[in-house]
Amino acid sequence: NWNMKNFIEDQVELIRRQVGDKKVLLALSGGVDSSVVAAMLLKAIGNQLTCVHVNHGLMRKHESEDVVEVFKNQLHANLIYVDATDRFLGKLDGVADPEQKRKIIGGEFIRVFEEEARKLDGIEFLGQGTIYPDIIESGTKTAKMVKSHHNVGGLPEDLQFELVEPLKQLFKDEVRACGIELGLPADMVYRQPFPGPGLGVRCLGAITRDRLEAVRESDAILREEFAAAGLDEKVWQYFTVVPDFKSVGMKNHERSFDYMVIIRAINTIDAMTATVEKVDWDVLEKITDRILAEVGNVNRVCYDMSPKPPATIEFE
Ligand code: XMP
Repeated sequence: NWNMKNFIEDQVELIRRQVGDKKVLLALSGGVDSSVVAAMLLKAIGNQLTCVHVNHGLMRKHESEDVVEVFKNQLHANLIYVDATDRFLGKLDGVADPEQKRKIIGGEFIRVFEEEARKLDGIEFLGQGTIYPDIIESGTKTAKMVKSHHNVGGLPEDLQFELVEPLKQLFKDEVRACGIELGLPADMVYRQPFPGPGLGVRCLGAITRDRLEAVRESDAILREEFAAAGLDEKVWQYFTVVPDFKSVGMKNHERSFDYMVIIRAINTIDAMTATVEKVDWDVLEKITDRILAEVGNVNRVCYDMSPKPPATIEFE
């Protein structure tokens, strides 16, 4: 008789048996999988768990603050919050090649995590949000990316830990159900997918702080208005992108030369193919008006009509 309550009880028991009185370290990105693992480990071993949240400066608006609020303030986890924004943006300065950007972000993430791990004494275990599709090698890009970026596979020899992976039998919808049962907020558990390199792949070309800010602010407006229109529960993934070129416009009766925001909203089953959501025109107008009024350095808003294939979901 399998249900989520029993599953959690069993896992709690297994975690306690595996870990004993030792300590566990967890990279807590705030994504669904790492959040649910954190909640599960907290229930099982409480303050034997230390979570590290690395803010690479490419998070969405309020995202790192929410991780701190939920896990540190509400659930009282040992949480080390590292604001590594300057460090990441420094390494990324002038780097325009998408693959290079991803490599830098992934590599730096592991280095920051490793530095924090070295400061801690007596850690013997590493918690991981591995889920069943990660194991069966579904072959989708998402699964592979999550592995190479999030699963902290690249730690040096002297920092090898035994893994604790309590979600490895679960599919994504079961992970979400598990998170709800463990008491996590619904908006954390039902989040849309967000790439490990974060807004870095949506601030096209070499990342600059002004365009990064434009991506972050426009994304926040898009999410607010989608939620207000009930589209957050209907559309699989939606976000904004800011290219690295400018176009001419008019502001206060004067010529402006500013960036543009591209809105993307897609539906898919497995992220291998995708169709474009037919967003209501009034909703698009409202979002456009708000972006043009509230986001600096932007004079134009476009809607991406391209299905996958031939486009991809993200731009980089
Ligand atoms: P594309 O752009 O290839 O994206 O059509 C397919 C799905 O994968 C997500 N994506 C990522 N997810 N780490 C992730 O966890 C990544 O590095 C990454 N890159 C892309 C993308 O958002 C879409 O849902």
